[in-house]
Amino acid sequence: MHRKKLSFATLCAHNNNHLKDGGLKPTVPPLHQSTSFHFDSTEDGANKCQDYDCGYAYTRDCNPTNMYLGDKIAELEEGEAAMVFASGAGAVSATLFMMTAAGDHVIADDTLYSASHNVLDTILPRYGVDVTFMDTGDVELLEKTIRDNTKLIYLETPANPTMKVVDLPRIAEVARKHGVKTVVDSTFATPYLQKPITQGIDVVIHSTTKFLGGHGDALGGVVVSKKDFIKELNLTSLQNIGAVAAPFNSWLILRGLKTLHLRMAWMCDSAMKIAAWLENHPKVDTVNYPGLAGNPYHEIAKRTMRGYGAMISFELKGGMEAGRTLMDGIELCSMAVSLGHADTLIQHPASMTHWYTSKEDRQKTGITDGLIRLAVGLEAPEDIIDDLAQALERV
Ligand SMILES: Cc1ncc(COP(=O)(O)O)c(C=O)c1O
Repeated sequence: MHRKKLSFATLCAHNNNHLKDGGLKPTVPPLHQSTSFHFDSTEDGANKCQDYDCGYAYTRDCNPTNMYLGDKIAELEEGEAAMVFASGAGAVSATLFMMTAAGDHVIADDTLYSASHNVLDTILPRYGVDVTFMDTGDVELLEKTIRDNTKLIYLETPANPTMKVVDLPRIAEVARKHGVKTVVDSTFATPYLQKPITQGIDVVIHSTTKFLGGHGDALGGVVVSKKDFIKELNLTSLQNIGAVAAPFNSWLILRGLKTLHLRMAWMCDSAMKIAAWLENHPKVDTVNYPGLAGNPYHEIAKRTMRGYGAMISFELKGGMEAGRTLMDGIELCSMAVSLGHADTLIQHPASMTHWYTSKEDRQKTGITDGLIRLAVGLEAPEDIIDDLAQALERV
């Protein structure tokens, strides 16, 4: 059969082709709950303990279900290899710990998920790593900020919760010119909207808890990069830090991935309708959604992404008090943190997901006290709009 490059939808719907799994050839990746695996001899055991390419030894080092998930995400991202973690935060911190040492300098965008921001802002400096936070949207300034000891540039796009979009191809080009590695948290984009490795980025991270899993029932994280990098990440970071994915969670996330393309298409379409409706509502002050023509990141998103995502943030004219009234008046959407679930989630970043980022840092990057974040789900968009409309009437 003539084999052409498979489309994204087909890669989502199909499992890793011809899973061998002990010769059984299952059509669905099996769940391996075992913590340990038999060795055939002392030599076999030594080989497997020292190199996961020789086989499985212990689930903290490597587990078949976790490997199936990593391989599938690497395929979707068009990366060489991937390693899964217990959570997105575990993936972020293991990567940063492996890639830096005392004396190194890191440049990080100033808008990041709060746990990632805190690792860079408070933990790495304790071990002698100097971190500069900046708006990486200013690529000329970014280039000037690179020093001889700059090791990596850390980005998140679209960023949580302001939906700031950065120009990955341009930043990758500048970083490569200076021999600096780039790492991007692509959780909000998913490989459906953007494949950073194909744009020159070195390392891609996701919280698979979100859109990749898609059902709000399993925590997970993943790092995608070159094969050698992933192997080193496994040996020097994952095995020692121990932020290991639970195989059952990986199994659930593998199941969720089968419908990623369908869910993302539906959610992006709904988010566009909801953002446009919010923008025209008299009680709404600002809407952050890169799909809107007036959004400052619209042009970059149009050029570098396949669509605009399922995440919206907005602020009401009455600020924090009005936002509180709206959220308490919601009847259909779920008031909860996280994103990428089947149901639409609404939350207040300043007091919920980003409460431990300092108020000063929040305000510098537009995470105002009145900002509300909406993670659009799979309901009919008109029902979400009706719910927001009835809650806005109370404001
Ligand atoms: C952009 C982003 N990255 C990383 C994380 C951390 O992921 P997890 O909750 O799976 O640890 C989150 C969590 O909300 C996130 O929004």
